[in-house]
Amino acid sequence: MADNNPWWADAVVYQVYPRSFADSNGDGIGDLDGLTSRLPYLSELGVDALWLTPFYPSPLADGGYDVSDYRDVDPRLGTLAGFDALVARAREHGMRVIVDLVPNHCSSAHPLFQAALAAGPGSQEREMFIFRPGRGPGGDLPPNNWPSNFGGSAWTRVPDGQWYLHLFDAGQPDWNWRDPRVPRMFEDIIRFWLDRGVAGLRVDVAHGIFKDPELADAADTVRSVRPSGYYHRPETLELYRSWRAILDSYPADVWPGPRTAIGEVWYDTYATLQPYLAPDVLPQVFNFELVTAQWDALAIRKGIDATLALTTGSRAPWVIGNHDVVRPVTRWGVAPARAAALLLLALPGSAYVYQGEELGLPEVLDIPDSARQDPAFRRTGGKVRGRDGCRVPLPWERGGASFGFSGTDPASSPAPPWLPQPAYWGAYSVAAERGDPLSFLRLYQAALRLRGENPALGVGELSGGAAGGAAGGAAGGAAAPAGEGAIRWLDAPDDALVFARDPGFVFAANLGSRPLPLPPHREVLLASGALAPDGALPRDTAVWLAT
Ligand code: NOJ
Ligand code: CA
Repeated sequence: MADNNPWWADAVVYQVYPRSFADSNGDGIGDLDGLTSRLPYLSELGVDALWLTPFYPSPLADGGYDVSDYRDVDPRLGTLAGFDALVARAREHGMRVIVDLVPNHCSSAHPLFQAALAAGPGSQEREMFIFRPGRGPGGDLPPNNWPSNFGGSAWTRVPDGQWYLHLFDAGQPDWNWRDPRVPRMFEDIIRFWLDRGVAGLRVDVAHGIFKDPELADAADTVRSVRPSGYYHRPETLELYRSWRAILDSYPADVWPGPRTAIGEVWYDTYATLQPYLAPDVLPQVFNFELVTAQWDALAIRKGIDATLALTTGSRAPWVIGNHDVVRPVTRWGVAPARAAALLLLALPGSAYVYQGEELGLPEVLDIPDSARQDPAFRRTGGKVRGRDGCRVPLPWERGGASFGFSGTDPASSPAPPWLPQPAYWGAYSVAAERGDPLSFLRLYQAALRLRGENPALGVGELSGGAAGGAAGGAAGGAAAPAGEGAIRWLDAPDDALVFARDPGFVFAANLGSRPLPLPPHREVLLASGALAPDGALPRDTAVWLAT
């Protein structure tokens, strides 16, 4: 069945945060040429595609998610020609490129927002954004009680007295998607990148975009991802149907093949996520089960079952980290993060790996306040530490200036990296880990190689009949869940995760304190840590078994 699946159904996608990946010209800022020069590393790692977070011109009020020109490259990161070269070189390595689409908001420096400011209240220009008069005497209060994701109100007042909506930073005004010029413009932007040969789009804040036209007060001002006046509006799904038609209009039989889009949808319940998985909307939507779960077997199993009940796995890729959340090593611990990597890559469907996860980078917790860049830090007066700790530039070499982030020429003296690297960074470098058979890097390389070779992994084969096993379907015995058979839970203690995939594969992880006897097997294909002398699986260790 694998042959009928589009490439993205079981792709391992490597998420690049371009500013922190590799710097080609010594200015301390990662750039597209730096990434291109490091493609052999990614090819050796064994990933299928790259997702680049925004590299567009931006004042960097939110790490580039404040876009001032959707159709260009920030001059600090390169040029469009450099982007084309990156796509072409990646193709030589068999890797596709996915770019980030930021439709909920732009930058306050975007020419259309600047034009809206200049044109004044009641103008056509203001209609492209969400401007309103304030409430209270003199209109001094925001139009409603919606909170910004980064702290404070979602509204900022402009000198003529009106307020504009921004669900994120004040430097990120929300578009008014009810003005037909906005969807038209984004169709052009989508085609612009697809025409350049990108294989897909990651859709930022895909649960946002449309807002309640009444802009009614929310039930409370606590930030949440439940359906509200600003999240999970049904109109958004209609929009995705139109985008799906654009994606599907590109030829599927020539490189890069069927185009995809993957929505960033944060959800409170599976019922909220479900409509995004209708067959004709975005091809894919992240599931964040392994990001939100504690390192607890029951919680993780519940998340896996619920996701598989909605999909076969491929529609809602797995992810354990990204540029918005604390690194897995720091969230769960080193041994759990290694075991989680094997879980991530053994589950059915597509998986995303955030740069540095393959090195086991920890969250950098002690970035000085003066160096912090995240608007959440600024807007909460430091109460929220923010996401800088998972965005620190990568270490490539054991030592030297910026651990090789800005080139490896020992004679050069590059500018310091845009976020400071900790003194111990060299121990996590690519150079150090390449030579260490017990390193994270070697674990990821081995897992990706095996995943490519093993017919049970990736999309794998849905087993017929007895599927479901001990856990059964999360749908509670009603109609068979879509993913049933993609994995089969085997009998195991509550603090273990043990499942089979066909043909001949078993995953086992021990999250409890007692050693777990390995299930029957022919061969241990890979282990995230040493097995006990009697062959049992120690705490926080996972194995891939051939049966
Ligand atoms: C989600 C992105 O991943 C995050 O980095 C950004 O701050 C917000 N969307 C706003 O664009
Ligand atoms: Ca640079």
